[in-house]
Amino acid sequence: MPDIAVYPGTFDPITNGHLDIIDRASKHVATVIVAVSQNPSKAPLFSLEERVSIVEESVSPIKNVEVDSFEGLLVDYCMRRSARLVVKGLRAVSDFEYEMQMAQMNLRLADVDTLFMVANPSFSFLSSSIVKEVARFGGSIEGLVPAEAARRLKEKLDGEA
Ligand code: COA
Repeated sequence: MPDIAVYPGTFDPITNGHLDIIDRASKHVATVIVAVSQNPSKAPLFSLEERVSIVEESVSPIKNVEVDSFEGLLVDYCMRRSARLVVKGLRAVSDFEYEMQMAQMNLRLADVDTLFMVANPSFSFLSSSIVKEVARFGGSIEGLVPAEAARRLKEKLDGEA
């Protein structure tokens, strides 16, 4: 069993699809580090600190999960944490091409391997953006995001109104 696997993402906010991957990955490795990317290119709704704290609250029932944040290249972060394995979820075939490109680049850059886990079909239509859009227009996001993410989304969107 590998010691550490890094599960990276923007998590703006974390969804139940992410949580499902984290939970399942935690059964295969000693420690899963959920690494929240600064990712200014996505202009996130939540600040880095907010995203980290929502993830922390959401993963708290899973014992062998740690939450951290990073800037810059994922492989540099992996090296700093002595991690040689990245976990990514695949929701559909359309995810595959881009994910494979990133995985191959990470392998070439630093010999960091990627373990792909297929998304639970109940969540394969989910993305953080679609959740934000539904919430912004008043639709129900029940069952799609952890309770803390739903609470913080409501707070943030009410504050915008
Ligand atoms: N369930 C639900 N949603 C999921 C999901 C799952 N299992 N897996 C992915 N998603 C969603 C994400 O929420 C995200 O939604 P959004 O676009 O609406 O925000 C979307 O699918 C894309 O996810 P992902 O491909 O994981 O992108 P990301 O933006 O969350 O994270 C990084 C991308 C941070 C992992 C990547 O850009 C990175 O490694 N950056 C560091 C810089 C670097 O090293 N670059 C070179 C790589 S070779």
